[in-house]
Amino acid sequence: MKKTLFTLTTAVVLGLSSLYAYAADPIVIKFSHVVAPDTPKGKAAEKFKQLAEEKTKGAVKVEVFPNSTLYKDKEEMEALQMGAVQMLAPSLAKFGPLGVKEFEAFDLPYIFRNYDDLHKVTQGEVGAGLLAKLEAKGVKGLAYWDNGFKIMSANKPLKTPDDFKGLKMRIQSSKVLEAEMRALGANPQVLPFSETYQALQTGVVDGTENPPSNLYTQKMHEVQKNASLTNHGYLGYAVIANKAFWDKLPEDVRKSLDEALKESTDYANQIAKEENDKALEAVKASGKTEVYQPTEDEIKAFQKALAPVHAEMADRIGKDLLTSIYAATGFDPAK
Ligand code: LMR
Repeated sequence: MKKTLFTLTTAVVLGLSSLYAYAADPIVIKFSHVVAPDTPKGKAAEKFKQLAEEKTKGAVKVEVFPNSTLYKDKEEMEALQMGAVQMLAPSLAKFGPLGVKEFEAFDLPYIFRNYDDLHKVTQGEVGAGLLAKLEAKGVKGLAYWDNGFKIMSANKPLKTPDDFKGLKMRIQSSKVLEAEMRALGANPQVLPFSETYQALQTGVVDGTENPPSNLYTQKMHEVQKNASLTNHGYLGYAVIANKAFWDKLPEDVRKSLDEALKESTDYANQIAKEENDKALEAVKASGKTEVYQPTEDEIKAFQKALAPVHAEMADRIGKDLLTSIYAATGFDPAK
């Protein structure tokens, strides 16, 4: 009681706008992620750090660990649940192992025609409902950050679905992505992001899929002779926190962090497309990868080959959820 009174009096005397500004030890948020700093997620994490520290006047310190330097894909989820890190932004394809399979809806081939379709889901009720499902796992879902649409790569031209037959393709840990690769006649191999470059380089896998920004910043293009602009699926993130940690934050700190999140989310979603466009140009300019733009008919052949994945995965993802996604975007690929 005495201490509270003292702090309060001191704060008033010093004219501090908030009590937490006077806290001696900052609250530390360890924010771990697996991509390079110069990617949409890497930049947004740095933006969040800067805004969070500014808005809490130093009462919060955010330590960002990029490039799997702290934890790899699977470990980071476990670390968050145990409280060893406080925040993450895993790809939406990585929530299955946590037991929230519904996020794999975002992996369905050609489910979004563009970022507008995507935002109708991530910025609407369906997206909010999905984030709420994380609470039962001790995880607080805070926001969605965009990345982009995926391209395919390998060491051979990938013009039609037939070109994928028998290829070993690295995927993220999503059953939908597994079904997608199988629908193309490829052999999917789940590997952590941090091991993908080496697996491609040594021939453990033949190819992969990712938005251009990830391909380029991990130098995967240096070990992939061909890329194909299939734009067959989306890759983006949910920003999440350890729920017990988040719920225990002082009210004014949480409010400032919510503001920092909102602003860094706007920033992430503003830069995502441009970052991917720039990365694609850099891949082309490197001269190491031949980038192929499939014709309209070839894209139609991919759409046709991949369409059955929606029905095949409907039970896993939830038919109602799928229907509400199609309703939100106004687009059902099967129709
Ligand atoms: C991947 O594993 O390919 C991506 O999830 C990496 C990322 O976080 O963008």
